[in-house]
Amino acid sequence: MKKGEKLILALIGVLAVVSVVYKGWQVSNETEEDPGIPYYSTASSELSDKAGKLLREHSCKECHKLFFLNNLTQNVPSPSLDGIGSLRSEEWLYNYFSAENPQEIIPTRLKPRFKMPSLAHLPEDDRRVLAAYMASLKVEDWYFEETRKMAYEKRTGEEYKPE
Ligand code: HEC
Repeated sequence: MKKGEKLILALIGVLAVVSVVYKGWQVSNETEEDPGIPYYSTASSELSDKAGKLLREHSCKECHKLFFLNNLTQNVPSPSLDGIGSLRSEEWLYNYFSAENPQEIIPTRLKPRFKMPSLAHLPEDDRRVLAAYMASLKVEDWYFEETRKMAYEKRTGEEYKPE
């Protein structure tokens, strides 16, 4: 082998090593910076259990995403409930669940069978449990704006423009 060829081979070798090390460094940096799942609940286990039962009874997850999980929702463009307690107060939620016609509070843009059903017929205790539990579903500060944007766009079908 000529000297020039050796030099080129050596250079390629060095570049390969550098690129592998750089990639590895990038990947490890990404995982270190990953702040994790932004959604959490402050509910006591008693409240979570009671609310969980109601969520199942009333098939909330047939339409809504909660902790990234839902049943068939991909097709129903209803709002995600992740972080809802950072967007709405408990009182607001209680009033919404008590409304005979929730669409007077949030107009729907969906076909009637997909719209939010009224929960006004539920016993007051159940509506309070649901409101308290929904209010406990928080989003970390760093993901608040993003959550607000997604909620707005789901609700209106329009692009969100921060003031
Ligand atoms: C048939 C589908 C469906 C079911 C079942 C359903 N929802 Fe909804 N929900 C919606 C839709 C769609 C909206 C958005 C408003 C609209 O289009 O009526 C909504 C809105 C909401 C909102 C307001 C979100 C916001 O932007 O502030 C909350 C909170 C909520 N639902 C909670 C619940 C809970 C709790 C249950 C179960 C007790 C439930 N939903 C069951 C479809 C549903």
